[in-house]
Amino acid sequence: MTTPHKATMSFSDGTPSVDFPIYKGTVGPDVVDIRKLYGASGKFTFDPGFLSTAACESKITYIDGDKGELLYRGYPIEQIAVNCDYLETCYLLLNGDMPNPAQKKDFENRVIHHTMVHEQMTRFFQGFRRDAHPMAVLVGCVGALSAFYHDSLDIQNPEHRFVSAIRLVAKMPTLVAMAYKYSSGQPFMYPRNDLSYSANFMRMMFGTPCEDYKPNDVLVRALDRILILHADHEQNASTSTVRLAGSSGANPFACIAAGIATLWGPAHGGANEACLQMLDGIQAQGGVAKIGEFVAQVKDKNSTVKLMGFGHRVYKNYDPRAKLMRETCYEVLGELGLENDPSFALAMALEKIALEDDYFVSRKLYPNVDFYSGIVQKALGIPTSMFTCIFAMARTVGWIAQWNEMISDPDQKIGRPRQLFTGATARDVKPIGNR
Ligand code: CMC
Repeated sequence: MTTPHKATMSFSDGTPSVDFPIYKGTVGPDVVDIRKLYGASGKFTFDPGFLSTAACESKITYIDGDKGELLYRGYPIEQIAVNCDYLETCYLLLNGDMPNPAQKKDFENRVIHHTMVHEQMTRFFQGFRRDAHPMAVLVGCVGALSAFYHDSLDIQNPEHRFVSAIRLVAKMPTLVAMAYKYSSGQPFMYPRNDLSYSANFMRMMFGTPCEDYKPNDVLVRALDRILILHADHEQNASTSTVRLAGSSGANPFACIAAGIATLWGPAHGGANEACLQMLDGIQAQGGVAKIGEFVAQVKDKNSTVKLMGFGHRVYKNYDPRAKLMRETCYEVLGELGLENDPSFALAMALEKIALEDDYFVSRKLYPNVDFYSGIVQKALGIPTSMFTCIFAMARTVGWIAQWNEMISDPDQKIGRPRQLFTGATARDVKPIGNR
């Protein structure tokens, strides 16, 4: 909504000043619309890490980093985590509101009927080395889905976009579990549509054709909560990548593959894997007794060591997802009798020290969701190398909801950032003999 206010940019180099409209969202900071800056002044803005730039308009997810608040379509994450399952959360993100019982049933039915992947997909897996990182396999296999579903690739057709969204949400657990089975040399497990989304995934991960797998309700609920908490997180690096890839008109499977590739990095989705590796590293050097030494390294300006699972670009308060994940962590460890698990004890000791240490307090560095989600996943029996795949499976719905929102916008344009060029200006190529 346009406000009656304007922003004026003035220049000391003689360029005439330029006025910009200011828009107000329903909540959050106002934004200054600088789109006409270049036309009016011949200048660009410079904001490489998007520290002050709203890259799009969105109605899906809102974060108040100072309050530690996360809303999906207006609903607080704390209420969603307690009252909804993952597929209801998917419905909410994709459609804008909570499903009623009939809508929930219909949505579940649609997802269930798309859980299998084309049998030919197994050949893609066989092309990878057995020791390939499962995220490498996932990037490749999700991208490959574009080659299978030509019937739903007209991105201007809302029905096609919906079918692609359902296919992606439905097939991700199957592909993630296949990536795991491939790495462990066990046969792929077909989905079982009488199980819930999360129970089906656990069965495809941990079941074998030799023996029936009985999902444990507490563990299934824990996995479902991991999925809910990771389902969307507004314009983070991977979501922005999906939007940028999608802005060119690329098909949704290719866009989600680009999102998965971005998620892989340790500063983003790879953090839970990195966090567990960090805990294992401290454990190997002596555990709790070595925390002081480790924290000193983290605080040393000359070292590159970071406390993984701490800090966030947006949250400058406790990440609300971390509180919920901490609760789940206790529940799972209790169910499995792992309360004295050394990784958990170490994590708790590290958390306590970091929350009291002035280095972290003054920089507003609090635990983020990944600090606990790695411990929960380890307790569920998920190997560390699979953690980011689970994150990708959860986030697929957020990516596709954001992609769909962008494509539905009639004013949508291809994303084309500009640059501050500091390289060589035009110069002549000398013949090879004269160089
Ligand atoms: N350990 C130690 N120091 C830190 C950490 C950390 N985890 N995070 C930030 N700092 C320091 C940083 O060195 C800087 O100090 P100084 O002002 O003295 O130079 C200050 O805090 C501000 O940091 P920044 O790098 O400007 O913060 P950022 O917003 O660019 O980075 C972050 C955010 C998440 C990349 C970073 O906090 C980090 O690398 N954390 C560890 C990785 C991690 O847990 N990532 C998961 C994020 S949550 C999952 C998701 O949403 O994807």
